[in-house]
Amino acid sequence: MNLRHFLTTQDWSRAELDALLAQAAAFKRARIGRQLEGKAIALLFFNSSMRTRTSFELGAHQLGGKAIVLAPGKDAWPIEFGDGTVMDGEAEEHIAEVARVLSRYVDLIGVRAFPKFRDWAVDREDAVIRAFARYATVPVINMETITHPCQELAHVMALSEHFGTTDLRGKKYVLTWTYHPKPLNTAVANSALLIATRYGMDVTLLCPTPEYVLDQRYMEASRRNAAENGGSLRVCHDIEEAYRGAHVVYAKSWGALPYFGRWEQEKPIRDAYRHFIVDEAKMALTDHAVFSHCLPLRRNVKATDAVMDSPACIAIDEAENRLHVQKAVMAALAEQGA
Ligand code: CP
Repeated sequence: MNLRHFLTTQDWSRAELDALLAQAAAFKRARIGRQLEGKAIALLFFNSSMRTRTSFELGAHQLGGKAIVLAPGKDAWPIEFGDGTVMDGEAEEHIAEVARVLSRYVDLIGVRAFPKFRDWAVDREDAVIRAFARYATVPVINMETITHPCQELAHVMALSEHFGTTDLRGKKYVLTWTYHPKPLNTAVANSALLIATRYGMDVTLLCPTPEYVLDQRYMEASRRNAAENGGSLRVCHDIEEAYRGAHVVYAKSWGALPYFGRWEQEKPIRDAYRHFIVDEAKMALTDHAVFSHCLPLRRNVKATDAVMDSPACIAIDEAENRLHVQKAVMAALAEQGA
């Protein structure tokens, strides 16, 4: 049997994504199910989390299962991922053993492993989650690496709830870069383009300069998605032009890929674009757009208090939906071993 993972939404058909969203909506109406009765999920966090950890642990519990949370290098042994490495450094065990041993204990494995932010050519290989998927004999779920597919589902679910339909074609969608004092992961931005184009929206990537355009892998995949689903994708560096007439504004900050590992050179560029903050004046240019963000969000840096506290903000709905969509993903993947 070919093992099915949830590493990227690109591996799942539109009909399968719609089915996950329908199941998530059912879980939102009635929270309890028994799809994980007698089953367990290991949640491996190489990076911090609030929403992901809480919603996965609670989701497993609500489905009758058990979640085991591990932080390798902190409360679990540091792991080696390289092939053929002479392991005389920090790592105490190899992913070949970790993934296979965990697979004997649990029915699902979730992995959060951000880029190391030193060399994008290395980080874009997504080596940690790919190694888990290679060695595990149970399904692996991406809890955010260089994409964030669970956030994608929660985002499109929140948009569908707002617009009253999963047919989002014709909606003008703006993914806007915003300032942040640190260079952040591009995962949510990559994911926003993938899912917005998958659902046929007319997508504008608004960023200060061409250096902030995302990895060509995700730009090209999103262009293909747009072509297949009746939408479009363009890059824009003009704030007013991007916001005018928009139906959705999604904000995220990220570090410019050409400066990976040379962040001291990128910082003055980033610092010059603090005015990309989402504020009432920009939202007033839109066609009554909804605003969202994956959270966590620094208020009055990425978006103003007024935007965050406005009825247009659906970030809390999106965060809630993480619970429901992840239950749908866990239930669908757990069925394989049933
Ligand atoms: N959006 C999101 O993944 O939140 P956490 O980093 O808190 O898990």
